[in-house]
This record gives sequence, structure tokens and C-alpha cells, in this order.
Amino acid sequence: MEIGLDLGTSSVIGLLCEAGVPRAEARRALTTSSPMPYASEQDPEDWWQAARAVLAELVAGLPEGERQAITAIGLSGQMHGAVLLDRSGAVLRPAMLWNDGRAHAECAALTEALPEIGTLAGVPPLPGFTAPKLLWLSRHEPQIHARIAHVLLPKDYLGYRLHGGYVTDPSDAAGTLWFDQSARRWSDALCAISATDPDWLPPVRDGAEVAGLILPQIAVGLGLSPRVRIVIGGGDAATGAVAVGAVEDGTGLISLGTSGQLLLAGSAYRPNPGAFVHAFAHTLPGRWYQMAAMLNGARPMAWFAGVAGAGIGALLEEAAAVPATRVPLFLPYLTGERSPHGDPHIRGGFFGLEDSTTRAAMMRAVVEAVAFCFADAAESFGPAARGLAPLPVLGGGAQSDLLLQAVADASGLTLFRPDGATSGPSLGAAKLAALATGTLSRGDLDTRPEAREVFTPRPGGALLERLEKWRALYRALRPLAAPR
Ligand code: XUL
Repeated sequence: MEIGLDLGTSSVIGLLCEAGVPRAEARRALTTSSPMPYASEQDPEDWWQAARAVLAELVAGLPEGERQAITAIGLSGQMHGAVLLDRSGAVLRPAMLWNDGRAHAECAALTEALPEIGTLAGVPPLPGFTAPKLLWLSRHEPQIHARIAHVLLPKDYLGYRLHGGYVTDPSDAAGTLWFDQSARRWSDALCAISATDPDWLPPVRDGAEVAGLILPQIAVGLGLSPRVRIVIGGGDAATGAVAVGAVEDGTGLISLGTSGQLLLAGSAYRPNPGAFVHAFAHTLPGRWYQMAAMLNGARPMAWFAGVAGAGIGALLEEAAAVPATRVPLFLPYLTGERSPHGDPHIRGGFFGLEDSTTRAAMMRAVVEAVAFCFADAAESFGPAARGLAPLPVLGGGAQSDLLLQAVADASGLTLFRPDGATSGPSLGAAKLAALATGTLSRGDLDTRPEAREVFTPRPGGALLERLEKWRALYRALRPLAAPR
């Protein structure tokens, strides 16, 4: 048996699997703080405590024989975050996350220093990426910057705590802006312009390789065999893709977690920097993917439910009953946006509220807005997003029929909800672990889930008219949000 451990943004999820088939799941919630405008941070120690609790819960109920049958733990995690360690391996400051927008001025500086950066690094500089954050630290927290000896991605920090070494995989290296995507190695040129010593960066090895054995004291604490292998794993976009067999040309997925993604995998590096589509190395050798990455996936729905003081399920039911003619427009950009705008300054807002507007109508607007983001994403891909086989949808948002139908209608994509939709990345991490131990073969990772509940686009002029108004609203508000 193997465990997939996914360090998400809202929780750490552990999935106990037998040859890639889920048996049990455990979760622990995480909180995010924003100590200053644009900031989004978490404490790596909280990740570790949550991960330990998840692992303990997963193995607690198992008879001794089954516990000893766990052979590997594969990792997955939120991408782009900067975990900074000193020479002794101690954490220097809270991790700056993928949706931290502080380094926006540094992005402009990087583009000025190397105008072709988007083609080399897979996407033009965006503030949530790791390299601009290091440049920001050199300017705003030089005393911390001066003590950096190691930079890790979030899942690799959990790996460090589990096996004691420094290592990453191509898919997490891909999200740093230090990675030469085509050559699949760190770029000295990209390090040089971002105040980064290449010696701080961990070696890059494929996601299904063993990083090391579990540290003896952790194995003893959990009652696991000291021979448990810790498998490097991948960034959550890549492990989600592995979960649903999105590895070869013509395969892909939609993810509706805190963030949102439309991802198409393939065997070639295809940069498309104009629309802020990310062209990233996959976690498996010789594979890449293209991804429209939205900072605001299903998160705005949870945000609005919280503001309205209602349960998200109940509010979605109310929203489904609202006549489309009474729905306002909502810009979902709570933390700025990456694809297709590359705009860290834009923020969310409702437009078209009336005296009679209900919270149900506002929730419906939020759902539509998330769907409209996928219309933008599909458009950014151009012909590559047309005529695709139905795409599996992962993440918490996949539970909502209202949202999935709206995404299909707005984007023109046909979608389906696979079994275990919420645990995509943890399943992918478990499959990489099973590949590393020989329980699964590389061919097994191409298995696509069955398309049961399918959501087919319905022709609808009214929705597309609203989409155009929504796009115009962004264009109108963009100048107001930009710093003077
Ligand atoms: C991908 C991305 C998200 C984060 C958080 O570019 O930012 O997938 O990894 O889930």
C-alpha cells in the first residue's frame, strides 16, 4: 500500500491507496494569513503538524500487518511558494504562497532584464512565482535574504521533514521561474536576474523517484516500517493530472479547488506566453503541459458563502432557483488574476445590484463568474481546446452541478465528474509512489477515469451576452485597480 500526501492551500489531505485505488482519506485544515496588502502566507510548521496528524489518522485504524504493508509515501503540494531555510535547515520566515502578490514591481524588473523570459521560463513573470519573491526579499527583507541557504517548494519541505534531504521534481521546479522548461534544468540566467544563488536550489529528479527512506524517528512515531520510501511527487497541477491520466497528447483536466486550472498535457514544450498560459514541465520524464491558471477557482464561492453566513451547499441550491435575468455580474478576482490577465492589482466586485437583489442571486453571479474564467481559459488555448474528449473535473468545486454546467456552457468544453473528484492531487501522489515501488507501471498512469456524469455545453445566447459584458466590466475597472 502507498499513501499520497497533498499539501493543499486549505487543507493537507492524505489518501491511503492499494495499487492506486483509494481506501481511506484523512484531512486537516490549514489557515492562511495576509499580514499586509497583497500578502498570502502560511507557516511551514503548521504544514508539518497537519501532515503528521493526517498520517497518524490514516494508519491509526490499521492492523499491524497492514501498517507494515505501507511501502511508500508520495508527495504533492501547492506550487510556487517560497520556503526559505538557513544553513541549519531552520525556516527563516513564513512561506510566501502562490497567491501572494507582493512581488509585482519585481516582475516588471525581471521582464526588463530578460525580455524573452516567458519563452524560457514557460510564462512571463507573475508575482506568485518563487523567483520574483526572492528579488522582493532582497529589496524588502535583506536581513532574511542574507541568511538563505536553501529554497524549497512547499511539498519538498514536507519531504525534507520526512526524509531529511533537499530535492524537487520538474513540475514544481517549473513553477519557480528559475527553470529552463525545455532543457528541464535550473537556469543560471534566471537566477542571476532574481537575486538567487543557484546553490540554494535543490537537485531536480523525476516525480516517481525515491527521495530517501522515512527518518527513523518519524517511522517509530507513526508505527510505520523504517523501510517506507518517500517519493518525490509533484506540484498539485501535475499530480492532479497524473490522478486522471492526463499525461499524453490530447488529455487534460479542469481543476476547481481554491485556484482553478484548465490543463492540457503533451509530449512537447509549447510556450504560449501572450495569454499567460503556463507551459510547464510535467512530473514524468519527457512530458510537459499547458495550463491556464486562475487564482480564483472555487474559492470565491466559499468566500461569498462565508460573507452571507450560509452553508455553501444550501446557498448553491438557492442560487440554482434564481431566474437568469435577475443575476448581477461579479468579478471573482479576490487575489488578482493570472491567466489570462496577468494582473495582480485587480480585485473582486459586484455590478448591477438592485434593491431586490438576494444573496441567492449574488451567489449565482459568483458561480457564473467562475465559469466565465473558464471561457477565458478556453479562449486562451485557441484551437488546442476545441474538439477535446470530455475533461475530468477535480477539486471541491466539482461537487456542484450548477457550477459544472455553467463552466460547460460558458467555455464550450464538455466535462465530467470522475469518482473521487475532490482528492485528485493526493491520488496522483499515491500513483507516483506506486510507480516508484513497482506496484503500478508507467502504462497504468495513462488510465483515464470513466466519464459518468457528463456536462455538455448548451447553446445559450443570453449567457454569452453576459460573458461579453463581464469581460467589458474587467476592461473598464482594470485602470482603477492599477497602482498610480
Ligand atoms: C498552479 C497554482 C495552483 C497552486 C495551488 O499554478 O498556482 O495549482 O499550486 O493549488
